[in-house]
Amino acid sequence: MNSSIERVLISAEEIEEKVSEVGKQISRDYECKNPIFVGVLKGCFIFMADLMRHVTIPCSMDFMAVSSYKGTSSTGAVKINKDLNQDIEGRHLILVEDILDSGVTLNYLKHYLMVRQPASISIVTLMDKPAHRKAPVTADYACFDVPDAFVVGYGLDYNERFRNLPYIGILKPEVYSD
Ligand code: IMP
Ligand code: MG
Repeated sequence: MNSSIERVLISAEEIEEKVSEVGKQISRDYECKNPIFVGVLKGCFIFMADLMRHVTIPCSMDFMAVSSYKGTSSTGAVKINKDLNQDIEGRHLILVEDILDSGVTLNYLKHYLMVRQPASISIVTLMDKPAHRKAPVTADYACFDVPDAFVVGYGLDYNERFRNLPYIGILKPEVYSD
């Protein structure tokens, strides 16, 4: 295991099993709806890549890049660094996130995209961390509920590190003070 990690919260095997299940569920729910999966970069990239391989219906994909976080605490402000490349009017959107924490990011994004009149917007998140929810957002699909701890791996970072870990781990507290 990586020496900066205190313990593994969710193993690669557990992730694989659950992501496959959620991909199949979305495929059933969105049959004939030709949804657009909108990945929220950068944290979504591994989750979305795995999820999409379990989605069996016609669909398309696009990405947005937002930033709202520095280190282990949210700044509360959301900045759009990359917007969608296509028209979404009348389309079913599925936002793909790594983790729903305060909800500020997804609440902002939902309202930002709603103006373009999509047919619907739903949210799929790898993890739901409800302890510090500030904005009224709920996930339509959440693979794992996680406790109030800062987690890394499988796309999630601490100051851009640890995204490449194949599991979700809890960082050793001394890593924060580096
Ligand atoms: P929210 O706006 O507070 O819901 O935060 C959403 C973003 O904060 C996520 O997409 C992550 O990039 C980041 N984030 C929140 N909690 C964690 C964590 O435990 N580890 C790594 N990133 C996190
Ligand atoms: Mg992040």
